[in-house]
Amino acid sequence: MTITTLDTPSAKPLLDWYDRHHRDLPWRISPGMAARGVKPDPYRVWLSEVMLQQTTVQAVKPYFEKFLERWPEVTDLAAAESDAVMATWAGLGYYARARNLKKCAEAVAKEHGGVFPDTEEGLKSLPGIGDYTAAAVAAIAFNRQAAVMDGNVERVISRLYAIEAPLPAAKPAMKAKVALLTPSGRPGDFAQAMMDLGATICTPKRPACSLCPFRNACQALKLSDPELFPVKAAKKEKPVRHGAAFIAVSGDGEILLRRRAESGLLGGMTEVPTTAWTARLDGETSSAAAPFEAAWQACGTVIHVFTHFELRLSIWRVAIAAKPKSRDGVNDEWWEPVTNLEAQALPTIMKKAIAAAIPLAFKTGKA
Ligand code: ADE
Repeated sequence: MTITTLDTPSAKPLLDWYDRHHRDLPWRISPGMAARGVKPDPYRVWLSEVMLQQTTVQAVKPYFEKFLERWPEVTDLAAAESDAVMATWAGLGYYARARNLKKCAEAVAKEHGGVFPDTEEGLKSLPGIGDYTAAAVAAIAFNRQAAVMDGNVERVISRLYAIEAPLPAAKPAMKAKVALLTPSGRPGDFAQAMMDLGATICTPKRPACSLCPFRNACQALKLSDPELFPVKAAKKEKPVRHGAAFIAVSGDGEILLRRRAESGLLGGMTEVPTTAWTARLDGETSSAAAPFEAAWQACGTVIHVFTHFELRLSIWRVAIAAKPKSRDGVNDEWWEPVTNLEAQALPTIMKKAIAAAIPLAFKTGKA
């Protein structure tokens, strides 16, 4: 007779599963190799981990390849032009990451002789490296027994232990469980196995529990419904902000662009002239706020959801024969050939705004 008990979780079944089912990703080395002394390139691990925050593996892959092609070593990135880094990052979102990426590369090059520190503490002393990235790089690049927890890991751990306290308050308790489960032998593989499990089996909806290496130990599966975990605190509705964006195209095929202030949302990125983005609908969305007087035509509204608010931008366009002289040298503005838009550090919201006014502005057809 078999007696079924709630097994105490162990990392072993997960690592066995990872050996067979890991995702092949460009920044990874093969499972088991780190434990045998093969060292992943810390630069690749760090770059991938920064890119993967709040961003999917699929979205990251082409950016990762582009960065490595352009800047194969951390010292190359340190020496790069900031504008080139921002332009290459454009479209990935959360642009503070790109600014910090550059600062971190500079610190590694100047203060550490181009070599990444190999401990969590050492990594955390670098600009832009917080708890998550320090733990991930320490575990994956340096085989340190660090507890790595991202959104996928939170979901797996909350189900494995049927943690009923809601996120985000439950994070420290979840991290303590991750620390207990992280093996000293293969911490980097364990971290990535948890991420792969969360991405492919222990999914938010309809998890494939019958294929899960934790199926015998998972408390949520035994006691209730895994989909009920992680428990989340009730979400507040996002506030809506409104504004207008102005797309001016000259007779010689150039578009008026400007650079955003260094600090704040989308800091240092490129944009078309826009009004302030305010909570009020009146005034700020009309062509009265345009950068210069002209026969502005309305061409719809684009909506973009940021972390803390939803933005609704009224789009205005004008084709002008001659560029207004008064704009020269104003507000960090310049005229750029429309054919060269792909090379600009335009965040997604600005690509959407331009595409609403000039449908063929971007090759891919989607902003
Ligand atoms: N998400 C964050 N880091 C990751 C990694 N190393 N592998 C897969 N998904 C990830």
